[in-house]
Amino acid sequence: MTALVLIGSVLLFFLYFEPPSPVCPTSPPLADEEMYEAEDHTEKPIVLLWFWPLGVRFDLNSCLPYYNIDSCVLTDDRSLYSKARGVIFSHKDINWELRNMPQEPRPYFQKWIWYHAESPRNTLRIPGLDNLFNLTLGYRRDADITVRNELIIRKTEMKDDFVLPKKDKLVCWIVSNRAQSTGTGTREGYYYELSKHIKVHLFGSGFTGSRLNFDDYYPTIASCKFYLSFENSIHRDYITEKVNGPLSAGTIPVVLGPPRADYEQFIPSDSFIHINDFPDHKSLAEFLKYLDSNDEAYMRYFEWRKHYIATPHLLTVEKEFIQPFCLACDHMSRDREYSVANDLYGWYWS
Ligand SMILES: *[C@@H]1O[C@H](CO)[C@@H](O)[C@H](O)[C@H]1NC(C)=O
Repeated sequence: MTALVLIGSVLLFFLYFEPPSPVCPTSPPLADEEMYEAEDHTEKPIVLLWFWPLGVRFDLNSCLPYYNIDSCVLTDDRSLYSKARGVIFSHKDINWELRNMPQEPRPYFQKWIWYHAESPRNTLRIPGLDNLFNLTLGYRRDADITVRNELIIRKTEMKDDFVLPKKDKLVCWIVSNRAQSTGTGTREGYYYELSKHIKVHLFGSGFTGSRLNFDDYYPTIASCKFYLSFENSIHRDYITEKVNGPLSAGTIPVVLGPPRADYEQFIPSDSFIHINDFPDHKSLAEFLKYLDSNDEAYMRYFEWRKHYIATPHLLTVEKEFIQPFCLACDHMSRDREYSVANDLYGWYWS
């Protein structure tokens, strides 16, 4: 009722108070706050990469060819600092006393962007980072700029022409990192127990001692019916390329990481198997064997492909950073509002 009265009075207002004519012959000078809006935003913003992440260089002209992003200028030229709309800092490259951060004052329009790809477990708490950055860039859904391998919605429902890659192995796992300090104990424990009930083919330097070539990554995953997408540590939204690999290769991911509900925020519920769906290792192994013997049940895990597309992620170390920095660069072409990342660590560890 109140709403109706309100709507009524708003309508009356417009009936009786004619809005001023848009044509204003002597336009008044713009107020200060309007100046910014009046500025020419067609110029592409400069986004400065303060560090090469971990010293890894890549082609700064990669945003257009890889991500069709052409809305900004990505540079590593520090002499452009005073003009840069955004400056990206990779967490791992910031030194403990912040001595390698910019020493000149920050222009009022400039935003500092905090980039980090590791889970909280594998993050150093460098002091002095609260109230320093304006934007966060990373895997979290609630980061200011989220970097993930998102599934793309198809324009039209695909006809059933998905061809399952030829499979000659049941369960596979590519693993390089086995450093217990990074939290890998949980997944390794799970693997050992699981492997008592089902054979797991191992690849990568972690167990076999030899690195898998990047060229062999997708074909290897594609040749297995299931792939162990086991994260090194378990944190909210920390769901990495370990899941995107099998989804884009045409293999079912068996995930170990945050709870199923977290995965379901990013990928369809019927596109993966969660270890928590089973009371123990043995029952998971039995379920995988059941799917192996029942094509119809197995193929149901690929139904999502009719509606969504998984895009293979870029593989080499140099290319790994292209996506986050291009997304940040693109974001700055749209970013207009004041913002501060007050409690950076409080947020990251929440
Ligand atoms: C960015 O954050 C800093 C530090 O909190 C703040 O002083 C500055 O005004 C912010 N700038 C913008 C453009 O939001």
